[in-house]
Amino acid sequence: MRVFVTGGAGFIGSHTVLALLRARYEVHVFDSFANSSPRALRRVRELTGAPIGMTEGDVLDQKALNAAIAAFRPDAVIHFAGLKAVGESEEKPLDYFTVNVQGTVNLLRAMDRSGCKTIVFSSSATVYGEPVYLPFDEAHQIAPMNPYGRTKAFAEGVIGDWCRATEGASGLLLRYFNPVGADESGRIGEDPAGRPNNLMPFIAQVAVGRRQALRVFGGDYPTRDGTGERDYIHVSDLARAHLAALEYSVDSTGCEAVNVGTGQGVTVMELIRAFEAATGREIPHRIVERRPGDLASYYSSTERAKSLLNWEARFGIDDMCATTWKWQSENPNGYRDG
Ligand code: WQD
Repeated sequence: MRVFVTGGAGFIGSHTVLALLRARYEVHVFDSFANSSPRALRRVRELTGAPIGMTEGDVLDQKALNAAIAAFRPDAVIHFAGLKAVGESEEKPLDYFTVNVQGTVNLLRAMDRSGCKTIVFSSSATVYGEPVYLPFDEAHQIAPMNPYGRTKAFAEGVIGDWCRATEGASGLLLRYFNPVGADESGRIGEDPAGRPNNLMPFIAQVAVGRRQALRVFGGDYPTRDGTGERDYIHVSDLARAHLAALEYSVDSTGCEAVNVGTGQGVTVMELIRAFEAATGREIPHRIVERRPGDLASYYSSTERAKSLLNWEARFGIDDMCATTWKWQSENPNGYRDG
């Protein structure tokens, strides 16, 4: 199967490309490298010895998308390319709607021109918003609380309408919880530009000495220890979920949303302790005020991923911490080390 991967040089994209190549798929990556490095793909090639087709391009460039897809003639597309910082989306909502929604429309148009009818979409649990109940299942109301989450919900709607209008189309909307960790090789991993917004990369940068201490946003939430609780999912498990979605799409049509998480909640303090135990590194931290917009707790129902995709997470929080540390300690400056 030939798979076209937008954003394939990114954190989740590169891990998914690695899994695709190891499973003998043929891959072409389309990436602007605006928030990723071609070095990630070079390392994926080194790990697999397999070729990766690559086009440097922007999903807002319809002509470039049309040409790249027409040339590769994919059987399926995995769509990662997009903007993904919640805080930034509050400051630049129009950029987020343009890239995340119009970019998805452009991609579907290019797919139509080449007769490709299968898309696996990088969505997010952020579409659920404030929990009406937990664990979140796929029937939970869609009520995103920030522009980033709204762009993911809108893009899901675009794909759903495209599926209904396109004979034989298949759309899988994978709602990620909190992706963390790195491939066991330590050769690829999360490499945020600038100050990390997310918890795990910040902890990793404290551990490697790039940051002084971690600020824990809030110690008065209604959770086991007062700190925020999330469902962290190992990026290699997440990558494998994309392959399960592709395998499912071969014999299916229509549009399906599927949560991708472990079903387990872990608090900030629990993650800090797990990281310290897994790495032997101390993580200096102090509890400060809550971060605006944060939820106290959410985690996923994993039933649909099991029943529909025959997929479930295998890695636990210790693996997530140990692989994060291997990546960060062997690449203190991420891909900037070459
Ligand atoms: C996790 C917990 C923070 C940083 C976001 C997006 C989501 C997805 C993942 C794209 C919270 C606490 C964090 C820090 C802290 N991204 N924290 N100190 O906010 O759950 O999810 O990233 O798809 O869509 O919403 O992830 O890692 O930022 O926060 O205490 O320096 O860690 O308060 O409880 P979040 P996060």
